[in-house]
Amino acid sequence: MDKIEIKGGNKLEGEVIISGAKNAALPFIASTILVDGKTSITNVPSLMDIKSILLLLQNLGAKCEFNGNHVMIDGSTINNTQADYDLVRKMRASILVLGPLVARFGYARVSLPGGCAIGARPVDLHLKALESLGADVSIEHGYIEAKAERLTGSEIYFDTPTVTGTENIMMAATLAKGVTVLRNSAREPEILALAEVLNSMGADIKGAGTAIIQIKGVKALKSTELSVIPDRIEAGTYMVAAAATCGDVVIKGCNPDHIGGIISKLRETGTMVDVSDHSLRVRGIKKVKSVDIKTLPYPGFPTDMQAQFMALMTIADGSSMIHETIFENRFTHANELLRMGADISISDGNYARVRGIKKLQGAQIMASDLRASASLVIAGLMAHGTTSISRVYHMDRGYDSIEKKFLQIGADIRRIRDN
Ligand code: EPZ
Repeated sequence: MDKIEIKGGNKLEGEVIISGAKNAALPFIASTILVDGKTSITNVPSLMDIKSILLLLQNLGAKCEFNGNHVMIDGSTINNTQADYDLVRKMRASILVLGPLVARFGYARVSLPGGCAIGARPVDLHLKALESLGADVSIEHGYIEAKAERLTGSEIYFDTPTVTGTENIMMAATLAKGVTVLRNSAREPEILALAEVLNSMGADIKGAGTAIIQIKGVKALKSTELSVIPDRIEAGTYMVAAAATCGDVVIKGCNPDHIGGIISKLRETGTMVDVSDHSLRVRGIKKVKSVDIKTLPYPGFPTDMQAQFMALMTIADGSSMIHETIFENRFTHANELLRMGADISISDGNYARVRGIKKLQGAQIMASDLRASASLVIAGLMAHGTTSISRVYHMDRGYDSIEKKFLQIGADIRRIRDN
């Protein structure tokens, strides 16, 4: 397994260009199942998760072409409505094929996605909502089986805002008979972007991006051309890295409107953030102030930025309290930061008290999930000495060319291939 080696201490300086958002590209690709024709998608990030979902769609019979950052998917050749365990276990977001398959073909058999390092990751809200749309849903031998002559519109309430749950049901409802109203929907920018994509295919969706979404079912959706929105979490990751190394970095091709919470919290640390239409300039200060963080559904501070912020707080002036409210086990990065000399204490499982120290020390550490790996890279960039991070396949799932992008802004970073 590859490793990343970082010699810490360099200030990051220069420009970094943000790729398309993983968490927008995945539902976009799933939505092509709804179309009996070809869909073209540009600005697709080059990630393991994208390769995984394209493999899954090919397994369903769809023709997929992926060159550079352009994907062409032909949903007219789909002839299989079963998503096997081997494909689903590699990537939980495979659950996003469930709604589109039932909506278009009236049947789907999808492996239950397992949990992952950050939590159990249940899909009960997806299934409850699908049943509200009239599907017969059962779970046997680790598979979800869902069938419906034709889905029928319904009033649906999510007990908690679920991003892929909202996306799955919004896609399913586009072909249902009648009107569906989703209440307590997730409001992430990726959901608004998906609704715009579905409407460009001929769907009739209103209210996406707010907590109440109305979908009027139509008979069929048609081919269209899509472009993936910028990755707000990738942008946030480079912003925190710039702050952590007291650097001066321009982050290009991002959408500042999607990262308001991150900008505000970073400014609270004393970091300077200048905002333009499609870029940000982040200038670090010698000693950042400690700030408290509480993760919340969008537009609250994103859980996907918690690990990166914790790394920054390990060298802040003072102590900060980090409260993770979305996932039950999203502090796995803390143990690795402790090995680098950080002063972190976890209580009740979802509170982390971080007391700032002078400097982290480079060490051999291990990535455990996607955003934890980004946190460890940031820690390595600011540590004294060399840090070696193993299991970087976690990072390759969600960060496009991360060491190349960090190299371009002055990091002393290299990938050691384990052949
Ligand atoms: C999406 O995951 C993102 N993934 C995650 O990003 C992100 O961390 C998460 O939303 C929260 O923002 C994609 O978009 C592909 P949820 P998702 O359903 O949809 C509970 C990354 O790093 N819940 O919004 O799986 C759940 O346990 C990844 O890019 C149920 O109880 O998350 C959690 O506590 C990690 N039952 C809360 O809701 C359900 O049926 C929010 O989860 C569904 C969710």
